[in-house]
Amino acid sequence: MSLMNGKNILLGVSGGVGAFKACELLRLFLKAGSGVRVIMTESATKFVTPLSFQSLGAEAVSYDMFAEKRDTLEHVSWADWGEILVIAPATANIIGKLANGIADEALSTQAIAFDGNILLAPAMNVKMYNNKTVRKNIEYLNSIGVNFIGPETGQLASMITAAGRMSEPELVFKRTRQLLLNRSSLRGKKVIVTAGPTVEPIDPVRSISNYSSGKMGYALADAAAGFGADVNLISGPVHLDVPPSVKIINVKTAEEMLSAVRKECAGADLLYMAAAVADYRPSVFHRQKIKREKDSMRLDLRANPDILKSLGRNRPKVAIGFALETENIKARAIEKLKEKNLDFIVANNPTEKGVGFGSDFNKVALYGKKGFNLILEKAEKFDIAVKIIEESIKLLNKRGSKRKKQN
Ligand code: CTP
Repeated sequence: MSLMNGKNILLGVSGGVGAFKACELLRLFLKAGSGVRVIMTESATKFVTPLSFQSLGAEAVSYDMFAEKRDTLEHVSWADWGEILVIAPATANIIGKLANGIADEALSTQAIAFDGNILLAPAMNVKMYNNKTVRKNIEYLNSIGVNFIGPETGQLASMITAAGRMSEPELVFKRTRQLLLNRSSLRGKKVIVTAGPTVEPIDPVRSISNYSSGKMGYALADAAAGFGADVNLISGPVHLDVPPSVKIINVKTAEEMLSAVRKECAGADLLYMAAAVADYRPSVFHRQKIKREKDSMRLDLRANPDILKSLGRNRPKVAIGFALETENIKARAIEKLKEKNLDFIVANNPTEKGVGFGSDFNKVALYGKKGFNLILEKAEKFDIAVKIIEESIKLLNKRGSKRKKQN
């Protein structure tokens, strides 16, 4: 079942031009199966109406603390109901109120009564964002564990390009999803993820590659950040947004990926080698574009280094590989598990309908040492990633306790 399914989300909306983005954010939460109650400041109601959120499917919308209603202790009962409070957009005004304990309307009152995770997506004019008091308020909220996403640099309402735009709803959704995971599971751990294809150039305009979309690797990086890890994502060329709180290292060829993996894996705790590394590269790189001259041509290829095999002393405490197989999946995956000295291997078949390359879904089998195996039925790649990480946390913890016993 999806992580977001059945979650109770409090969505706070304060008054800024970005308020319309909260409608899209609500839609994303609802699509993922979460229940959402919306709390608006009075000024937010000037930008979007409570009816907009109600019509989109919010469970309830609160904006007037003094309106006649059945639940007079709404600020307390909603705070108990919500698993996370997301305020998007968060104006300088609401940030100031949260930092100073002011509760003078529906949203700030609910926020003060709420003791769970809070995520703020600031949006304001750049001059306001750079204001010393606003910065001090943000710093203070950060120091007491309030989470922030953005603001992004982009075109503001004033038409200038500067920092102050609210992060896109998709990104706020992803950060919320991360914050619903148990952040202490991998706190202080260094996690390396590789993703996407490698691209091996033939000449300045042509290359050899594969159809990997990078989605599985990006989902792993996303989920690992949610579990509280410091995540470095080494990615081949893909068309995906970098997940929140993840450091990206872009590479192109297998050789570039190899040197990035070697460098980053030193001192790392976990490695997820989800990249589809091209097995071969052209033996020679033609500096000029190859001309069409004959009816056929031969391209001489040379094997790329096997990144996992060549890790040696840089191998992290737990290393997980992926096996992309179109036949004899289990036997081949187990062969690779042994050959590459992995803790477990995630096997999948990219030709299966509705999963694999390019899809948002996957269906995989995990094979490990001593006959360990676990089938993960078709689910969103993020949810598959959560399960894979949970299994690797078990291994990492076992290693940790073994070491402690030895000492
Ligand atoms: N891998 C690697 N270096 C390579 C090729 C693959 O580290 N040069 C890693 C992949 O990232 C994956 C695992 O090895 O985690 C298995 O990759 P896969 O492409 O399934 O297998 P190969 O080892 O390339 O073997 P084959 O293509 O013959 O199936």
